[in-house]
Amino acid sequence: MRKPIDDFPILAPQADGRRLIYLDNGATTQKPAQVLDAVERYYRSENANPHRGVYQLAMLATDAHENARHTVAQFLGAPDEELIFTQNTSEALNLVAYSYGRAFLKPGDEVLLYVAEHHSNLVPWQWVAKTTGATLKYLYPDENGRLTPEELDRKITPNTKIVGVAHVSNVLGLEVPVAEIVRRAHAVGAVVVLDCAQSVAHMPVDVKALDVDFAAMSGHKIYAPMGVGALYGKKELLEKMPPFLAGGDMIAAVHEQRTTYAEVPWKFEAGTRNVGGEVGLAAAIEYVQQLGWDTIMRQEEALIAQALDGMAKLPYVRVYGAASAAGRHGVISFNIEDVHPHDVATILDNDNVCIRAGHHCAQPLMEYLGIGSCCRASFALYNTAEDVEALLRGLGRVREVMGLGS
Ligand code: ALA
Repeated sequence: MRKPIDDFPILAPQADGRRLIYLDNGATTQKPAQVLDAVERYYRSENANPHRGVYQLAMLATDAHENARHTVAQFLGAPDEELIFTQNTSEALNLVAYSYGRAFLKPGDEVLLYVAEHHSNLVPWQWVAKTTGATLKYLYPDENGRLTPEELDRKITPNTKIVGVAHVSNVLGLEVPVAEIVRRAHAVGAVVVLDCAQSVAHMPVDVKALDVDFAAMSGHKIYAPMGVGALYGKKELLEKMPPFLAGGDMIAAVHEQRTTYAEVPWKFEAGTRNVGGEVGLAAAIEYVQQLGWDTIMRQEEALIAQALDGMAKLPYVRVYGAASAAGRHGVISFNIEDVHPHDVATILDNDNVCIRAGHHCAQPLMEYLGIGSCCRASFALYNTAEDVEALLRGLGRVREVMGLGS
């Protein structure tokens, strides 16, 4: 029977019979033939600059661009006009911080972030807090790595204007309680900025059902090319926000001394877009939808449970966040006693097993956990039980290779 892994050329067995055991999906995913083909088809037969030409090819490119928007918007449960294409999650979050944050924050206002935020949902807010006089405050996880309603009650105040959280932390892998966050934030008039970079490939995300104000995602973490991502924003907010980048296609009319802007979402899409990437993202979403969330989630949860069970049998492995597959999506971060994460990743690489080691662009969380860095195995729909066995076999050998005994 054909399995998802068969759709991914880079994961096919090589001449020596070995294949890549790719467990760095939190950093980026591999691409199925369906996505590669869609991108190639676009460049072979439809490429022109959308919204600029009246000739037929330009119309095809415009359709490709807008149809891709429709697919991504539907995927997130949003109308097309509330879906802005960006380069990635970082650009989407910078857009919100620069445009919304700079326009509406003032001294005394509070921006409340989860300490587990990726730097993309943290550094832009540091900059904006500095220029507006707003104060940055942090939410912290409990001893199981979970963000609790009690912590939200402690930190959300009438001064809170923005709550920025990662739907799923790229280190802890645990889902935050979005409904609890949104209810409390909206009660004090704050907007919620949800970083969905690590959630969209692992679970359904419906921005309307969640009632978040902004949500950001990257294409490359969900089997699409790098260089394309999306920002969802509520229309009433997007309409009152100033543009983020200025240039072609984001204007209504330009005069020597003044400019009026295009409607949303185009007001936020300056310059020539990455239409090939957008087409690839739409194809990736269709690929995911064809497999179905039930299958994907069941498979990934089984892999995570298998990995956690195996790690629990290795007394020198410390997992960060509750060592349970429930509410964990895609990611397990851990350390091996007395071994630097870079050594662990290098030893695993000898067996063709790819994991990430380092601070994972989440240094405040590393500080909070009292570690400099850690290892991270992250899963995707193409991973198999054999991949997890290879990971566990490798982890079982690390201390021996380092001369520390087993
Ligand atoms: N944000 C990506 C990661 O967590 C790069 O690895």
